[in-house]
Amino acid sequence: MVLTGAGVSADSGLPTFRGSGGLWEGRAVEGLATPQAWSEDPAMVWRFYQERRQCVASSSPNPAHMALASLEVDLQNAGVGFSLITQNVDDLHARAGSAPIHIHGELSVLRCEVCGEKVRDLDHLDPAAFFPCPECGHKAMRPDVVWFGELPYRVEDVFRQVGNATCFLAAGTSGVVYPAAGFLQLARDAGAKTFVNSLEEPENLSLDDAFFPGKASDVLPELCARIFKQVTA
Ligand code: OAD
Repeated sequence: MVLTGAGVSADSGLPTFRGSGGLWEGRAVEGLATPQAWSEDPAMVWRFYQERRQCVASSSPNPAHMALASLEVDLQNAGVGFSLITQNVDDLHARAGSAPIHIHGELSVLRCEVCGEKVRDLDHLDPAAFFPCPECGHKAMRPDVVWFGELPYRVEDVFRQVGNATCFLAAGTSGVVYPAAGFLQLARDAGAKTFVNSLEEPENLSLDDAFFPGKASDVLPELCARIFKQVTA
């Protein structure tokens, strides 16, 4: 199993949440990515997300995304199960050929809070123009991303999968946002071999993990090859 975070997309030019660049117009993400912010100032929240959606539309997968997609194909050909869980709301894993579980939703999907309609769209990127629901006409669809205070998607399924993992890689995540930050410990408890890549040591790192510091796009191609050998030996 692999869990990815914002660091994996950093080398594609998408800013991470924490560390430098973690503020937008002087606001922390915790003040923008909430249902309260959306109901109090939808224009401001929409502008923030339209900027994120523009970045996604103009970026491309990097060697870290490609290495994970190749690992999936190689393991499947070897008859070994593989699952990719991502906290990232961009679509770079999919564009590299993976089929990740997006526990925090996706920027390329818009959702109507009135009728539940979902639309995949990365064409309407004007920060000043809301996207009306094509089904019921509600004036502003929201990005289908999980905000603070909302439940991540498919979390029970993911907990079950992590509990069965024999090998677990966490890449590019600071290990501070739960429940995802708890998956590494759950995998350790299940007896999985654990591998971690990040620029800095994440909060949830343990001496039991094999830690590979550095940029995901530099580290993952070799690390994925090593994991493939170890899992299929
Ligand atoms: P963070 O921004 O919290 O952490 C990014 C991590 O990636 C840090 O540990 C960096 O050291 C590391 N990093 C930065 N550049 C890297 C690179 N080139 N290669 C490898 N690692 C690098 O991002 P997440 O852990 O993904 O949630 O954040 C978790 C959640 O917090 C996000 O999904 C988002 C946010 O609030 C929601 O929006 C619900």
